[in-house]
Amino acid sequence: MKIPSRSHVHMLSYLVVLLLLPLLASSADPDPLQDFCVADKSANSISVNGFPCKPASNVTSDDFFFDGLTKVGNTSNIFGSTVTGGNVDNFPALNTLGISMNRVDFAPGGLNPPHSHPRATESGVVIDGQVLVGFVTTGNVYHSKVLNAGQMFVIPRGLVHFQKNVGVGKAFIITAFNSQLPGAVVLPFTLFASTPSIPDDVLTRAFQVEEKVVESIKSKFSS
Ligand SMILES: *[C@@H]1O[C@H](CO)[C@@H](O)[C@H](O)[C@H]1NC(C)=O
Ligand SMILES: *[C@@H]1O[C@H](CO)[C@@H](O)[C@H](O)[C@H]1NC(C)=O
Repeated sequence: MKIPSRSHVHMLSYLVVLLLLPLLASSADPDPLQDFCVADKSANSISVNGFPCKPASNVTSDDFFFDGLTKVGNTSNIFGSTVTGGNVDNFPALNTLGISMNRVDFAPGGLNPPHSHPRATESGVVIDGQVLVGFVTTGNVYHSKVLNAGQMFVIPRGLVHFQKNVGVGKAFIITAFNSQLPGAVVLPFTLFASTPSIPDDVLTRAFQVEEKVVESIKSKFSS
């Protein structure tokens, strides 16, 4: 039998890596290595990518069910909308499973302001009411549609999007993510309410406005 030369082996491993690259690049959260890994939120001395698992002997049926999305969110705030999370932070069984959901409630006219999710694509369905859903591509093309109950949408990973109640009464939607913790970059807060603040001269230059405009916007979000 001919023994492959070292350079052949080298080329082969190179090829394998090249073939696997598209697979690695297309995955969202990493795949689990066991049936489940119910997060042990008390083990806060250990820091890993995700959370350590509760001992399997401590896991009960209750761990796999979550009532958090049954409650109507309180929409008495400046945007007239509220997001209730069903992610690993409040539903620890999602740890390592790569998925999560939110409930978003809207007062009449309420807005879930422009934001993006750095770690997930979002799909959603209108449960009640009439909602304008819009997102902008990296090429600055705006896509939008007014949806009624039962209609669905998708927001590709990382793109800036919003939902606005354009119906007569209240509205609510359920969204789903391919991440246990999609994260949210909420532009009004990110740009105008960070701690410490982004310097005014950065924002005046970026938005081509006077400092008083930036100060005025910042004042709306200071608590
Ligand atoms: C597992 O259960 C035991 C007995 O209820 C408890 O003492 C222990 O703190 C639990 N451990 C974890 C990591 O939840
Ligand atoms: C809703 O939130 C507002 C503002 O924080 C608060 O004043 C009000 O009591 C809340 N309403 C309910 C029903 O919890």
